[in-house]
Amino acid sequence: MTSQPLQSILIGAGQRGAQSYAPYALEHPDQLRFVAVVEPNAVRREIFAKQHQIAPENQFEDWQLLLDRPAIADVALVCTQDWQHAAPAIAAMRAGYHVLLEKPMANIASECRELYAVSAETRRQLHICHVLRYTPHFQKMRELVQSGVLGEIIDVDHRENVAFYHMAHSYVRGNWRNKDETSPMILAKCCHDFDILSWVLSQDPKKLASFGELNHFRSENAPDGAPLRCTDGCPVEGTCPFYAPNIYLGMAPFWSGLADTARGFPRWAAKQYSENPALIRALAFLSPSLRQITNYQGWPLTVLSEVPNQENIEDALRNGPYGRCVYHCDNNVVDHQVVMMQMESDATVTLTMQGHSHFEHRSTRIEGSHGRLMAEFGNGGSRIMIDEHRTDWHMEYDTSADLEDGHGGGDFHLMEFFIKSVHEDDFENVLLGTKAALQSHLLAFAAEDARLQGKVLEQDSWQ
Ligand SMILES: NC(=O)c1ccc[n+]([C@@H]2O[C@H](COP(=O)([O-])OP(=O)(O)OC[C@H]3O[C@@H](n4cnc5c(N)ncnc54)[C@H](O)[C@@H]3O)[C@@H](O)[C@H]2O)c1
Repeated sequence: MTSQPLQSILIGAGQRGAQSYAPYALEHPDQLRFVAVVEPNAVRREIFAKQHQIAPENQFEDWQLLLDRPAIADVALVCTQDWQHAAPAIAAMRAGYHVLLEKPMANIASECRELYAVSAETRRQLHICHVLRYTPHFQKMRELVQSGVLGEIIDVDHRENVAFYHMAHSYVRGNWRNKDETSPMILAKCCHDFDILSWVLSQDPKKLASFGELNHFRSENAPDGAPLRCTDGCPVEGTCPFYAPNIYLGMAPFWSGLADTARGFPRWAAKQYSENPALIRALAFLSPSLRQITNYQGWPLTVLSEVPNQENIEDALRNGPYGRCVYHCDNNVVDHQVVMMQMESDATVTLTMQGHSHFEHRSTRIEGSHGRLMAEFGNGGSRIMIDEHRTDWHMEYDTSADLEDGHGGGDFHLMEFFIKSVHEDDFENVLLGTKAALQSHLLAFAAEDARLQGKVLEQDSWQ
């Protein structure tokens, strides 16, 4: 790219803002540069300011101090928590910034509509971080479906299989556990999937119904004698999959999940490390790839502490929310939900989200009049297989991204698209994307309403 780097401000220097998107600026200083940061957490603010060399007068605790005045940069990244999206994103557009806003757009439907309306009114681009659209995996899936190789699409079965330790981390102990404070789980986890399904199939649902409950993570399921915290002498620490020290110290489930799904050297290394961590630690000086595993300090450890060394993680488990027994938390989001949809073409689609998967992945099966597509998208690797009914023609595509590429490569490809769209002043095209994002959010709200009311809802009710 030959033009000047875009100047950016960051609102919310947490996991996503500071660790998923901002590293793009460090890798591509010719394309993007941060000139201001807003973050109430002083440690995070200082780490970010130091990494990106932000002047002291451009470091803020509150976004209003920055957004109440005319724009000092081209773009704003808004990466606060779900319930803190609409106000700063709207203020940023009104101040003159193009905005990259984390999903969900907002956790209330009226705020999602308002965000879209303000983008249309101010003609400021509003990109929603539906990162899956930017992955080689879902782009290939869309290309295959659009090519017609499957014939008429008859039925789709798409699953968001949330790993048991991710469910416990985010939706039982962590930030998205309580729908009254954040978002219903079908919005938090599956606004991506509603977006992808409509995009891949090039059509919207016209009817939907939904079922789902919180079955497992309830106090009545607590093992006899389980204390409030895992570290307080739990009688089932040797057998409970959710025993916090096993998840966060050594991260055994994370590495064994990777060993199940990755290929080549990462698979071997993750398997060895999950079975014999001492051996891999001893060999780590030989190989940078092994050190990536033994020195790992990324998500979810960075959620527990800004400096996730052993001492700080142990302290967080003794004193913070992530050491709590999963049966004694203040969680109320579902741990499984299914949404059944009838599409405009009368094709049927089921979207299943469940939080007890052995490993983290999405899987998709598309049945057409001429063939079948089967796909898996996961941290360890992704693939798509196609079979043609008449000829037994079979094709496999490896759609894996590098392990360190967030969301199967989606995080950085989204940044590329954002920067390119701003440079090209491609407002009309981006607004179409914002509208599609709004639709996917309205579908998620409709699915939650359908679940709570036990009703079949029609398109008119959520448009
Ligand atoms: N696109 C994706 O696939 C994806 C994946 C995970 C999370 N998310 C979404 O990203 C968002 C951020 O999640 P996260 O895990 O980074 O959360 P986080 O809590 O790590 O980061 C949010 C940051 O915002 C800061 N903050 C709070 N109030 C603020 C204010 N008034 N002004 C500025 N900053 C403020 C917090 O201190 C925190 O550092 C959430 O909405 C989440 O749902 C998206």
